[in-house]
Amino acid sequence: MTTTLTTSPLAPLLDRLFAQADAATSPALAGISREERARLMHSRTEYLDFYGRLKDLWLPVSRQTGALLYLLARSTGARNVVEFGTSFGISTLHLAAALRDNGGGRLIGSEFEPSKVARAREHLAEGGFADLVEIREGDALQTLASDLPDTIDLLLLDGAKALYGDILALLEPRLRPGALIVADNADDSPDYLAHMRSPASGYLSVPFAQDVELSMRLG
Ligand SMILES: C[S@@+](CC[C@H](N)C(=O)[O-])C[C@H]1O[C@@H](n2cnc3c(N)ncnc32)[C@H](O)[C@@H]1O
Repeated sequence: MTTTLTTSPLAPLLDRLFAQADAATSPALAGISREERARLMHSRTEYLDFYGRLKDLWLPVSRQTGALLYLLARSTGARNVVEFGTSFGISTLHLAAALRDNGGGRLIGSEFEPSKVARAREHLAEGGFADLVEIREGDALQTLASDLPDTIDLLLLDGAKALYGDILALLEPRLRPGALIVADNADDSPDYLAHMRSPASGYLSVPFAQDVELSMRLG
């Protein structure tokens, strides 16, 4: 049994992109102290400046999280997927493969760094997914505020950590009961975690693997 994820052209493309991601370096990052990095990462006002300085870094999901995204989107038969934080498109490729194998759908990505948007579009075209994926350029707080599908089956949160709650609130009215929310590196977003794990939140939420919070919309 073959899947789009594990066959050509996507499988060798992902091998190449993960290798490129591993090799990428950022002189700008080296100039920022660990404390300043932590402060900027949690800032609600300086995230564009911070991620702009990191524009050479891919910061992709791990290989395991990529496979998890494919698996979750496949197993739930997802047709409408939204992604906060596309970068060079590695997570997007996994999600697009699942839509392809589900028989089609719509994937809306979001990324404010124009050079990353251009590269992600190239990678998605190379994988054969241009018909399924739209990457919205700009701050996701604006680009994901309108023109959304009526229902969303799966949401990946992987942009500025301080905005996870804001992006969820934007999309929440469209999340269908049973919709999945995958939040990468959610430990850096303690307010989001506290909200999702609270019994009154309307979600069932568990830490999953090393760096993912997996949540399901209850109703
Ligand atoms: C961790 S990376 C995403 C990695 C990507 N999901 C992958 O697996 O390849 C986070 C990305 O989110 C982008 N980003 C952060 N805040 C954003 C915002 N408010 N709107 C749009 N993009 C944002 C950053 O520029 C960065 O490229």
